[in-house]
Amino acid sequence: MLWSPVTRKIILTAVLAIVVWTGSGVLGFPRVFQDMFAAYVVFGLAVFLLLDAPPMARLSGRAAVVALVGFYLGLSVVYIGGASILPQYDPEVEKGKIEKILKRKRDKALAERRETDTLLGQVGTLQEQVNTISARLARVAPAGEPGSTPVTSPVPESSSERLTVVEQGAEVYDLYECYNCHTIGGKGSVKKRGPILDNIGSLLTVGDIRKKILDPTYLYASGFEKEHKKGRMPDKYKDLMTDEEVMSLATYLSTLKDPTADTPRPVFVRANVEHGFTVFGYVRDASGTGVADVTVQAVPKVKGGHAASGRTNASGYYEIFLHMHNEDAGATVAVSAQGATKEFVADYDPSDKTTRRQQSVDLTVAGTARS
Ligand code: HEC
Repeated sequence: MLWSPVTRKIILTAVLAIVVWTGSGVLGFPRVFQDMFAAYVVFGLAVFLLLDAPPMARLSGRAAVVALVGFYLGLSVVYIGGASILPQYDPEVEKGKIEKILKRKRDKALAERRETDTLLGQVGTLQEQVNTISARLARVAPAGEPGSTPVTSPVPESSSERLTVVEQGAEVYDLYECYNCHTIGGKGSVKKRGPILDNIGSLLTVGDIRKKILDPTYLYASGFEKEHKKGRMPDKYKDLMTDEEVMSLATYLSTLKDPTADTPRPVFVRANVEHGFTVFGYVRDASGTGVADVTVQAVPKVKGGHAASGRTNASGYYEIFLHMHNEDAGATVAVSAQGATKEFVADYDPSDKTTRRQQSVDLTVAGTARS
């Protein structure tokens, strides 16, 4: 069959355009690119057809000028018209969008900051009340229950300092590399070993976060039972961090309240009596007055037993949390302060998982000298 050269080129172009369009589709190019590649093939046809076209009659004089101007006008219409069909980019519009996003973030940060300030203010007031009540209790019931130790307020007074507590906490978080297992703001934990913490502030109080850091067995994140059983979260921060660091870290985490984040709910390990033993009591001088600022040490006399210590408060009261497990039941514990020592047997029932394990030990030391 004989086809004219022009027909041959048109058929070839059609086949080529279909092949290119389908091929680029198979290779995963977006639709726009498929169309563009096919358009290039068609453009190629136009060039070849032009090359084969018979020469134009020579133009001269006014006709030449009109043709030239007409040609440029035509070309301009094609270019401008074509370009206006494509999606437009206006730097001002884009800047506006970015500004809007930033503004929302700034407003949110500001609101959170105000909320944090209010909360910290409330914590401060509550702490004062606790201190007053504890002081009154210590006076009324000298053989006080554990838990009545007045704690010094962790909340600094001025508002600018308050902000730094949260900032400090964020630094502590980085310093102790919590991000190795946890994510905040999408950053950290490449291996996804621990929970996302972005909403932890809505689920846990500062106090509970603090306890979780000091004793990972205190609670666990639901869905992470296996990791919890294996003890994935390190039980070393109580030895590494200062009280201030733990406090600022807990305060920082308590400000993380992003309800859209799926931070798992915490499950409190019931009473948690299996993990600890509390020693508490008073250190008094010969006249029976409580001695403040004395370091008291408690040593369980078992293999691998960890000694722990505490300090007496203004009324001479102290409290020590000992890590003792079920196997340690019946162990002798030595409690000492400034040369005075007493021993007792920690005879709790390992099968009893609800009664708090504790022992009251009062010591009498010579003189009122501060240690
Ligand atoms: C080696 C990994 C690892 C490191 C490091 C680690 N954690 Fe965890 N953490 C876990 C795992 C796993 C869980 C979930 C199981 C559990 O609760 O015991 C968890 C749970 C928690 C929870 C409870 C979350 C919830 O939704 O209830 C808090 C709070 C927490 N970690 C804080 C911290 C802080 C603060 C640090 C740094 C000082 C830290 N973690 C370091 C692994 C880790």
